[in-house]
Amino acid sequence: MSNEFLLNLLFYIIVTPVITVTLNKIMFSSEDLMVVEDALKRIDSIVNREPMQEAKEGLTPKDYSISLNDVSFRYPDAGQDAVSHVDLKIHEGEQVAFVGPSGGGKTTLASLMARSWDVTEGKVLIGDVDVRDISSQKLMDTVSFVFQDSKLLKMSILDNVRMGRPEATRAEAMQALQDAQCEDILAKLPQGVDTVIGTTGTYVSGGEAQRLSIARAMLKNAPILILDEATAFADPDNEEKVQKAFAKLSKGKTTIMIAHRLTTVTGADKIFVIKEGTICEEGSHHELVEKNGLYAHMWKEYNNSVKWKVGA
Ligand SMILES: Nc1ncnc2c1ncn2[C@@H]1O[C@H](COP(=O)(O)OP(=O)(O)OP(=O)(O)O)[C@@H](O)[C@H]1O
Ligand SMILES: [Mg+2]
Repeated sequence: MSNEFLLNLLFYIIVTPVITVTLNKIMFSSEDLMVVEDALKRIDSIVNREPMQEAKEGLTPKDYSISLNDVSFRYPDAGQDAVSHVDLKIHEGEQVAFVGPSGGGKTTLASLMARSWDVTEGKVLIGDVDVRDISSQKLMDTVSFVFQDSKLLKMSILDNVRMGRPEATRAEAMQALQDAQCEDILAKLPQGVDTVIGTTGTYVSGGEAQRLSIARAMLKNAPILILDEATAFADPDNEEKVQKAFAKLSKGKTTIMIAHRLTTVTGADKIFVIKEGTICEEGSHHELVEKNGLYAHMWKEYNNSVKWKVGA
């Protein structure tokens, strides 16, 4: 073994790991950079959002009906309108449903009613008053929105539910949880209703989080109710519980149910079929089936899938 060979060997033994480690670091740092950039973009999008104009006078709606007059809306930076030239009327106490293909604009339309966004064109009226003329506090007390992807905060279940009405007593919150069919969720958590969400071993699924949000809405007891059914209802048991909870909650209220399964909407006073940002059909279940349009087609497909499941 020559000296030169030994030196070479030593050189490679020392340098090779250094190169690998450096390359690894470069690789990971570029990945981290992407994560950071993404997070910053999201923070920017929130910070840069224009605050909504607070109503000057704060008018009071004369009833709890909802009208959309020639409403169009485009998300900031989007290339096209998410909903365009929509007209609809929902009477006080009516129970209506929104159905239609994914991305059609159901959630967008409902969030315009709760003034999560301001319309680009047209008017949203609650009890004949433009939502922009109702004070934000009054509007919040009037409309309850159960979101498609309900989020819970890192506090106890009891406090999460009490957000609906902070002055509610523990007994009232417990009643709301019971009415929202949440007892099975409480039973499996270590400290029941006092369990803090987000600590180890306190996982709730999307469907369960939605039921807890329904309990929150029950406690709030607002006269207009919007339920955006979670898409991720893999198990029928959870779906049935949500339906039961919602039926209890919606009694005597103006309700909008955004449904992905058609069985849940057959009893609605009116069904709006929403596709590509417009209402393409409206009427009762029977009227729409008779009409033989998109809804009739969706209904046929739905029944076929049920048959297929039974036959399988
Ligand atoms: N925050 C947003 N920013 C930009 N575009 C959005 C945003 N939310 C929705 N969109 C777009 O608006 C359109 C309507 O979406 P929306 O969520 O209202 O549909 P949807 O009918 O509720 O669908 P799904 O049945 O899947 O819930 C889609 O093209 C969607 O990509
Ligand atoms: Mg949606």
